[in-house]
Amino acid sequence: MTLVDTPRPTSTPLGGPTLAQERRLVTSIPGPKSRLLSERKAQAVSAGVGISLPVYVVAAGGGVLVDVDGNSLIDLGSGIAVTGVGNSAPRVVEAVAAQLAQFTHTCFTVAPYDSYIEVAEALNRLTPGNHAKRSVLFNSGAEAVENAVKIARHFTGKQAIVAFDHAYHGRTNLTMGLTAKNQPYKNGFGPFAPEVYRAPMSYPLRDGGLDGVTAATRAISQIEKQIGASNLAAIIIEPIQGEGGFIVPAPGFLATLLAWCRANEVVFIADEIQTGFARTGHMFACEYEGIVPDLICTAKGIAGGLPLSAVTGRADIMDSPQAGGLGGTYGGNPLACAAALATIDTYEAEHLVERAADIGTIMGERLRALAAADPRIGEVRGRGAMMAIELVDPATGEPDAALTGRVIAASHAQGVILLGCGTYGNVIRFLPPLSIPDALLLEGLQVLAEALAAESAAA
Ligand SMILES: Cc1ncc(COP(=O)(O)O)c(C=O)c1O
Repeated sequence: MTLVDTPRPTSTPLGGPTLAQERRLVTSIPGPKSRLLSERKAQAVSAGVGISLPVYVVAAGGGVLVDVDGNSLIDLGSGIAVTGVGNSAPRVVEAVAAQLAQFTHTCFTVAPYDSYIEVAEALNRLTPGNHAKRSVLFNSGAEAVENAVKIARHFTGKQAIVAFDHAYHGRTNLTMGLTAKNQPYKNGFGPFAPEVYRAPMSYPLRDGGLDGVTAATRAISQIEKQIGASNLAAIIIEPIQGEGGFIVPAPGFLATLLAWCRANEVVFIADEIQTGFARTGHMFACEYEGIVPDLICTAKGIAGGLPLSAVTGRADIMDSPQAGGLGGTYGGNPLACAAALATIDTYEAEHLVERAADIGTIMGERLRALAAADPRIGEVRGRGAMMAIELVDPATGEPDAALTGRVIAASHAQGVILLGCGTYGNVIRFLPPLSIPDALLLEGLQVLAEALAAESAAA
């Protein structure tokens, strides 16, 4: 890290990969200009919009964000798993700028354009399975989930939907209902949509280490008793749960659920909104177990930071809704489509699937070494560039959310952007952009190690 005594000149740096790849603190975090902006935010923006780290960004790229005070922070969050290709990735910037000069919007459902079709073709090619597929584009992850449910209901003529403990699927009405955690996502926002049911997840650290088949059999038994397959349109599941705590189900859990769905004419929807697009060291996390979902929801890493999401799946299911039943004003906006094509090109040309796996090796080794010497780290888990530690009370194994909050705050103060998650608020997740240099990644993890060490010294 560079320590500078006086604030740097105020000219705004350009983002993208040319931004200096360093941690550099010139003020306390947040600095004075960010604090002023926080005051304005409190006056202008709904208090319902929470902020993890109130440093206001002026540029970002590679593995850093630069704030209004001239601080350069290490980014281990990627805007919640979005900027896999990095901020302002060159191919994305070029493609979006070119599209911007051509036209910005026609509405695909009014007067279409070819880039939407090209994105659909790319998704049909990249997602698991060689069967005939179709795609439809939207703006946000929640919108993709909503539409996957609509499509599954239309196709099956059934209504019930099963989501899992610890699930996160969004903040719209239906997706709040699918999401498990009350605070902050659901509290006071009901009533929620009917015909949404919850089943037990496989969570090896906290379910006594049930093997995947047993955990799935438990879930299936509950589904059969409480809902009945003849009423069930779909189950929706994240192959690795995101907000719920980066929970990796035991091997066999997903495959057993999928086999039951196939046998019972229940649509299997994989929500790969956080796990998708190279993040886990495969293009999609379902690939780890050879899972071929009927429908797959994608967003986040799809378009280098521009808002785009999709539902992709079996042609017979996707072609079920009547024309006009799916769509929306902005879904598959031409700028977002240009960004997605350039982003997908970047994943492939720069071998970012392999890069995510390498990042996973680096993070896994460092985090496991920390865990070996620190019983407060109850588990290191995840895949590729999607890893987490779960912090516990070593005496009881109970979640330690207070420690988690303090370690995250201390890392923020040292210029490393870390995100928490987990039903019990005791998980720290690592989602670096795949463009982060190794040295910066290791420096970020060193800051975490020092924050943990300072906590044991204080105890
Ligand atoms: C697994 C999963 N599904 C759905 C969503 C909702 O996506 P969005 O915030 O774009 O609506 C998220 C967002 O974090 C997610 O992680």
